[in-house]
Amino acid sequence: MGRGRLSTDAIHGHEHKDSLGSHIPPIYLGVVYEYIDYEIGEAIFIDRGNYLRYGREENPTTRALERVVTKLENAEDALAFNSGMAAISTTLLNYLKPGGKIVVPMELYSSTFALLDNLSPKLSVKVEKVWPSAESIVKAVDSSTSIIFVEVITNPTNKVIDLEYLHKHLDLLDKVVLVVDNTFTTPILIKPIEYGAKLVVHSMTKYFGGHNDVVGGIIAGYRNITSALWEWRRMLGGILQPFEAYMILRGVKTLEVRFEKQSRGAQAVAEYLAEHPKVEEVMYPGLTKNPYYDIAKKLFERPLFGGVLSFRLKGSYNDVIMFMKSLKLIKRCPSLGGTESMAVIPSKAAAKFIDPEHRPKLGITDNLVRISIGLEDVEDIIEDLAQALNF
Ligand SMILES: Cc1ncc(COP(=O)(O)O)c(C=O)c1O
Repeated sequence: MGRGRLSTDAIHGHEHKDSLGSHIPPIYLGVVYEYIDYEIGEAIFIDRGNYLRYGREENPTTRALERVVTKLENAEDALAFNSGMAAISTTLLNYLKPGGKIVVPMELYSSTFALLDNLSPKLSVKVEKVWPSAESIVKAVDSSTSIIFVEVITNPTNKVIDLEYLHKHLDLLDKVVLVVDNTFTTPILIKPIEYGAKLVVHSMTKYFGGHNDVVGGIIAGYRNITSALWEWRRMLGGILQPFEAYMILRGVKTLEVRFEKQSRGAQAVAEYLAEHPKVEEVMYPGLTKNPYYDIAKKLFERPLFGGVLSFRLKGSYNDVIMFMKSLKLIKRCPSLGGTESMAVIPSKAAAKFIDPEHRPKLGITDNLVRISIGLEDVEDIIEDLAQALNF
């Protein structure tokens, strides 16, 4: 498929062939597969180079989803997990080494920080948290660094990391593994492997699943790395189960139409809020005045900037609570990327594990609200915000 094309792979990339002629991969619930050659323990060969023996190792429905995401991310292989955090923890366990260092932006998904902060003393690993920019990340890399972990758009203040700049410093990245969490941007906006990432991770609970009804995660990347991670997945037991894989396969088929509508909705809401007298600041890279607009425009494959925006209300924390309580259509929930629009106060939820001394520098204050735009009519979302801001 050409650059920018994606839906054909999302729909047909599972490569399921069925003797009955069905073009939908079935949900394979079987957990064990009979050996063909008992002596050497071989069962049915599955394309990654492994055998289909046991449900903790492989499942054909899960494999169908992995084939789709491999194509969407222009990767060589993918491994699906039962949550985004299972994918991230398995990746980090593979790369964190005693005496080594991981470089991360000081703004990252909260549970990734919680995991790093809990693992690092046990494994004697240094976690260096730097300002979320490609320049600061490059400066922090030294000979002890084994891994850089970034999100393309940071959560919740929507800063954009310049992957092109990181890519230009490939001399450094050759010695370290760049892992990119592409959950907020999806392969519709960027394919991090094209910018030197060795691995891409997703919380498929968000845009891939897309309906707030399934939890899953995935790693896509080079086969030599996914083979090592396959062993970790088997040992840790985090493989995505077939029903969930089926649900996400179904979700991914409509990723493009959903993500486009959600991004257009977010743009309209950001523009509305930017003009609102009760709003101090809107953080959304699609606004031309946003400091990350130029980086986003340069990096993203389409003139879209994702479905999540944040804004700072003029007023106190109590005013923010009043606003949140007044929402009628938008749900007060901590997730994103699904059909329902959702609002959250990051300082009380998503940003809880961001170091308290970093939060004010990043702009994470108690009057900050994050909104994930769903698939409702954008006029209704704006009307809901307008009435809730009328406190
Ligand atoms: C950017 C990002 N990465 C990873 C995760 C973790 O994914 P999951 O909740 O599926 O474990 C999340 C969850 O919100 C996220 O927002």
